[in-house]
Amino acid sequence: MVDSLAKPAIAKQVAIQENLLTPRFYTTNFEVAAGLDLSAQATELEAMLTEMRADYNRDHFVRDQSFNQSWDHITGEARQAFIDYLERSCVSEFSGFLLFKELSRRVKQRSPLLAEMFQLMARDEARHAGFLNKAMGDFGRTLDLGHLTKNRQYTFFPIEWVIYTVYLSEKIGYWRYILIHRHLAAHPENQFYPLFKYFEPWCQDENRHGDIFKALLRSQPGLWQTWQSRLWSRFFLLTVFATHTLTVHERANFYHTLGINPTDFDAKVIRKTNETAARAFPSVLNVDHPEFLDRLHQCSDLNQQMSAIEKSPQPKWLKSLKKLPIQVQIFGHLLRLFLLPGVDAEALRGTVR
Ligand SMILES: [Fe+2]
Ligand SMILES: [Fe+2]
Repeated sequence: MVDSLAKPAIAKQVAIQENLLTPRFYTTNFEVAAGLDLSAQATELEAMLTEMRADYNRDHFVRDQSFNQSWDHITGEARQAFIDYLERSCVSEFSGFLLFKELSRRVKQRSPLLAEMFQLMARDEARHAGFLNKAMGDFGRTLDLGHLTKNRQYTFFPIEWVIYTVYLSEKIGYWRYILIHRHLAAHPENQFYPLFKYFEPWCQDENRHGDIFKALLRSQPGLWQTWQSRLWSRFFLLTVFATHTLTVHERANFYHTLGINPTDFDAKVIRKTNETAARAFPSVLNVDHPEFLDRLHQCSDLNQQMSAIEKSPQPKWLKSLKKLPIQVQIFGHLLRLFLLPGVDAEALRGTVR
């Protein structure tokens, strides 16, 4: 694990460019996590543990010789967009690694099954983050993950929120990787760097992680049987989808380089993730409502206006003042979307999907 996180010697270590969309690091109430009664999903969790121990991707994350060449021909905006993509993906994978590793350590005494499960998920995320960091190294940059661990701020999320959000980030991660993989299988001429050919088994790791979190969620009646859980489900779906739309459009250049239309890609990822979430969450969003994607796109346009203000040479207070009405508009759109009637996933369950 330590080995897979090792940094290439020549690449320059850089600090990450923080903004609202940079993946965060999380901490939680570990005592509550250790005390979770998992008996309602014991069979499912045992089966998942057997799969995780099998470690199907043990030999997958090894760089082959196709990486051994110069990437200097990727220049300008395409290069920058790709480095940004690698950086954000690496921080996101590493964030999972840190949270799972700490959960594993802190629940060990009281919940050995959960501790082993988190340890095995941390193993996978360390491989993913390490692989991405080495890819960054090919472009002359690398993240100092040790420094990040010690110096970056951690956000506290109660374990219930962790279960909803990690479930979603694993499943949206699965769809993001598999859709890029499928697109490049159909259009191999757009595969400009060998990282993408690793995506299929990689996304199966994320799918398994998502299934583990689904079992955790369904083991807690309070997370799917109450009216509050319906609101939380839709709230987290909306925040994950809004973040996705903003991120994809902010990094549109990267998708263009792959020959992907960012707006279509975003819509497909949202539809698929929402459909998948209906197997775990009590309520999901009506993403086919005519307002849904339209308002998310308006948020994305507003976000780009904010980025332009942020980059402009003005005093900080003036930037904040100019951004305020835009933030209010984004909030308004998201509120309207949150208030749209949801889809009752419990009623759908059992139907063929
Ligand atoms: Fe991962
Ligand atoms: Fe994962």
